[in-house]
Amino acid sequence: MNIFSDIASLRQHLSSERHIAFVPTMGNLHAGHLALIKHARQLSECVVVSIFVNRLQFLPHEDFDRYPRTFENDCKLLAGLDVNTLFAPDEKILFPTKQEFLLALPPVADILEGEFRPGFFRGVATIVLKLFNIIQPNLAVFGKKDYQQLHIVREMVNQLNVPIDVVAGETVRALDGLALSSRNQYLNKEQRAEACNLYQTLLHIKQAIISGNQDFLTLQDNATLHLATRGWKVDYIRIQRQDSLMPAHPGDTRLVILGAAWLNHTRLIDNIEIDD
Ligand code: PAF
Repeated sequence: MNIFSDIASLRQHLSSERHIAFVPTMGNLHAGHLALIKHARQLSECVVVSIFVNRLQFLPHEDFDRYPRTFENDCKLLAGLDVNTLFAPDEKILFPTKQEFLLALPPVADILEGEFRPGFFRGVATIVLKLFNIIQPNLAVFGKKDYQQLHIVREMVNQLNVPIDVVAGETVRALDGLALSSRNQYLNKEQRAEACNLYQTLLHIKQAIISGNQDFLTLQDNATLHLATRGWKVDYIRIQRQDSLMPAHPGDTRLVILGAAWLNHTRLIDNIEIDD
């Protein structure tokens, strides 16, 4: 695996590649990332992974400083996969001067995650576009775990005519259903045992909807109450349309149930799709 930290040598190295699949990450790789990378490898012989903890997508009070950085272990994991290239720049490379050009995002960036993490998607979209411009891949793989991020990157690529295919990778879960995430390691033993209840609660809503319940507001409220009684602080539980991420109405099909909630100081997100 070739490791680059500067843009010129990365570009030089990639210039002879005819088809590139890209997987952007913030490092601290786990089985969820590895599944995205394997997916990319099936679609292209040349896979580029990036590791960069992007300051632009953290609010001042969020966990930028304590976000787990495990570069050596990440490299070991990547070496075990057939990854051609790792791009791991430091901040001076991606932000040699203050990043003052930032994307203006559509209203979908202000709901769900955007309501509770204002500016988050602007930071994500800006760094993703920078990485796309640097690497110029043919396709990029994003996990469904960050469902709204995937949606926004797709919309950005469409509306800005970026010639890159955005490919979705499935969420990888622990045996009890908890979606894998770097933030899971903030959980102590007791919280880890409780954490799967976010997924179980979304699953419960899915089953109710499949059984014909269309009272989405009540389903959301009951789920919120249920988690609250178990000690969670819920940011949102919402039943939305997959295509627009706007609130679903009775009769809509192709739904997605999204949730974000805190266990003590750890914020977890998850989602489940309901197809026709
Ligand atoms: O999903 C992530 O890890 C990040 O949001 C991304 C896409 C690497 C941008 O920093």
